[in-house]
Amino acid sequence: MMSESETATDLSVMDLYNHLTAQGETVRNLKTNKAPKVDIDAAVQLLLKMKVDYKQVTGQDYKAGCPPVDGLVSIDNDSAVEEGDDQVDPWTVSTSNAKGVDYDKLIVRFGSSKIDQELVDRIARVTGKTPHHFLRRGIFFSHRDMHQILDAYEKQKSFYLYTGRGPSSEAMHVGHLIPFIFTKWLQDAFDVPLVIQLTDDEKYLWKDLSQEECHRYAVENAKDIIACGFDVNKTFIFSDMDYMGSSPSFYRNVVKIQKHVTFNQVKGIFGFTDSDCIGKISFPAIQAAPSFSNSFPQIFGDRKDVQCLIPCAIDQDPYFRMTRDVAPRIGYPKPALLHSTFFPALQGAQTKMSASDANSSIFLTDTPKQIKNKVNKHAFSGGKDTVEEHRKFGGNPDVDVSFMYLTFFLEDDEQLEKIRQDYSSGALLTGELKKCLIETLQPMITAHQEKRKLVTDETVKQFMSPRKLHFNS
Ligand code: TRP
Repeated sequence: MMSESETATDLSVMDLYNHLTAQGETVRNLKTNKAPKVDIDAAVQLLLKMKVDYKQVTGQDYKAGCPPVDGLVSIDNDSAVEEGDDQVDPWTVSTSNAKGVDYDKLIVRFGSSKIDQELVDRIARVTGKTPHHFLRRGIFFSHRDMHQILDAYEKQKSFYLYTGRGPSSEAMHVGHLIPFIFTKWLQDAFDVPLVIQLTDDEKYLWKDLSQEECHRYAVENAKDIIACGFDVNKTFIFSDMDYMGSSPSFYRNVVKIQKHVTFNQVKGIFGFTDSDCIGKISFPAIQAAPSFSNSFPQIFGDRKDVQCLIPCAIDQDPYFRMTRDVAPRIGYPKPALLHSTFFPALQGAQTKMSASDANSSIFLTDTPKQIKNKVNKHAFSGGKDTVEEHRKFGGNPDVDVSFMYLTFFLEDDEQLEKIRQDYSSGALLTGELKKCLIETLQPMITAHQEKRKLVTDETVKQFMSPRKLHFNS
């Protein structure tokens, strides 16, 4: 008997390809002829849907001018980029849209799955906990294989968490905390071990910094990470420079991955060129290795089958598309992923917050006064120019950075919804909205600073020593 998907495959992949090409042409024509926006949107929607179907049937991404190839599975899912698309990769995040990156489109482009209400409800059922507001509000919005993690978990088969940070400076900003706040919630909700990679090697290769500086930033950043409240009995934090050299098992996995990924593939995925140093070219294998449990024998013994779940911002996905592609070829399970949106810059959601631009960032070291000044001075406002206009027409929370930050940090759903309504109706003025944000951020950052002060060198050493962790396997 033939299954439905097999029938679909027989429906001539070439036909699908031709229809898609024609639809691409239609969209272009509508745009050039300045057709009504509804018509363009409808045509783009159809195009996106056809791309998803095409991907499902062929396992390949649609590329204009490249008919489907039998048996060739492209791992560069991001190759279907079109002019005007948002740019999202480990080094650049930018869009021309004030509302920020179009995340639904990104899901299609990257070939991941949306975190829908059903998945959020399922996480609530399985953990018996109210899902974190990052899940409830779509801040973690996309995933790969999360249902599989939950299926196994329900059958008492546990998993481990892996996340990381590139220590490029001592100064961490509030956006950097997002994956760690969420990972801490996951660790508590599922009661699982966690490994945190500090890629001091990566920052040495990419930035104009010495090895000593990168390593020092790694240790300093570890303090901010520890201050998020991780359980020392269940968490291993490591610097690549230290751990790689001391762990034969980790290095063996790095080499295995290196053997199974070609230069062509990393060029396609990361855009490396012939003049990039070979350190950069082989680095993705180092970010991939922690996805496999036998990279940590002190934690998992020789088990290579403990599945990994990686919470990260969506710009890190290219690393893990590569990892998921090699995993079955070297006999390991593919890591699952939970992707977050970006934390917008103060100046607007066209870019993410960047530590190298002091005015775009709220740092974890800022004083209450600095926070107040930065928000008042720099936070992009969706309000109207005058109070009269604002009262009459209301503000736009969708482009307002203060409102966006409140969706990240104000925990009370009802209060947030009231702010949204009052701001939209004009009852709440921009100054008042900013005041809400300032009053949310100030105590949060002061609390962080107090927790960080309690992190001693001894504590850091404990977290960063390879050792057994306590968990139920
Ligand atoms: N490359 C990441 C950065 O520059 C750091 C990182 C390493 C990471 N491993 C990770 C991030 C796993 C998320 C998940 O910040």
